[in-house]
Amino acid sequence: MHITYFGHSTFTIQQDENTVLFDPFITPNPAASHIKLKDIQPQHILISHCHEDHVADLAKIQKESDAEVICIVEAAPWVAQQGVQKDKITAMNLGGTVKKSFGTAKMVPALHTSSTPDGQYAGVPVGFLLTINGEKIYYAGDTSLTMEMQLLADEAIDLAILPIGGYYTMDVQDAVKAAKLLNCKKVIGVHYNTFPPIQIDKTEAVSLFKKAGVELILLNLGESVSLE
Ligand code: NI
Ligand code: MN
Repeated sequence: MHITYFGHSTFTIQQDENTVLFDPFITPNPAASHIKLKDIQPQHILISHCHEDHVADLAKIQKESDAEVICIVEAAPWVAQQGVQKDKITAMNLGGTVKKSFGTAKMVPALHTSSTPDGQYAGVPVGFLLTINGEKIYYAGDTSLTMEMQLLADEAIDLAILPIGGYYTMDVQDAVKAAKLLNCKKVIGVHYNTFPPIQIDKTEAVSLFKKAGVELILLNLGESVSLE
């Protein structure tokens, strides 16, 4: 299994012929100018919430790839307005689990806000608990530290993908606490260094996690990591 980072909270999980894309925000990100949207051909696109910095390239990538979009029920009408066929949208809700070609995805709570870039109601933000090829991966989406995470402590999560930039989401200190609540020893940090308010010191972040006995992986744009 390969996880590739495309900046901000955008990444793919690849397993065999399946590529799952999360929260596509590439073309508005100056640091991602070398990433070509056409090179990302997912079968599924998972959306944590509809803020611009999570959906900016949804329509373009979906059009190129004909991928199925998975989102919360109230976000589905906006996704459809972007030109996504209704039969290509899985509109689910918190607590639900769907089985797809990549494995399973369970929609779990996130503590944040949500609306579409044009101001429509988009339900609540979510995270996803994924089971892919026997590995459990938790993508928190945009969230503050929340006790809901403790409910996942007995899931034996192999990898947590957590926001660490602060200001709009958890910061590094809270993400360390989140890893403890989740009982997870491996974290990929996202949602940092894209905008001035979410700048972090990467070296300090890695060492704070290390002190807590947790490995923090900070990928460069376009860089991949393997999970066995
Ligand atoms: Ni957000
Ligand atoms: Mn965000």
